[in-house]
Amino acid sequence: MHDEQNERYRLGLPDMDAQHHYLYALFDRLEPSATVTDAAAAASLLAEIERYLLYHFACEEHLMRMYKFPQFAAHQGDHAGAENKLGQFLNDFEQRQLNPARLRLFLTGWLMEHSRLSDAVYAAWIQQCRGEPALSAAASEPLD
Ligand SMILES: [Fe+2]
Ligand SMILES: [Fe+2]
Repeated sequence: MHDEQNERYRLGLPDMDAQHHYLYALFDRLEPSATVTDAAAAASLLAEIERYLLYHFACEEHLMRMYKFPQFAAHQGDHAGAENKLGQFLNDFEQRQLNPARLRLFLTGWLMEHSRLSDAVYAAWIQQCRGEPALSAAASEPLD
């Protein structure tokens, strides 16, 4: 079994790590149930998740462009895939068919995997551009 906290590792870019941390906190606020019990609270939380996730993607994509990250297009494609999937869940919510537990599992799992496999690569590139040592060893450190 994985220790979930160990998967929420640091990239070594403090601003992006803080954004991931806030995203995980938002995902943790999704109800761990198969149905929505408080539609108003869910609507407000989902709006914040959508806003902040898009904000985070925009920040990363801006960073990658500024530092001329070679695999920018593939990374942006990953973000677009997650946006699409979130859009499907938001449609489910509008149809009153959202399973919040499933959304929580998807978002948390996606962010863990994406940050470990993809964000870690652009982070190492930026650290190299800045002349900092790559912090891949920090990848297994829990955030808190
Ligand atoms: Fe990220
Ligand atoms: Fe990313």
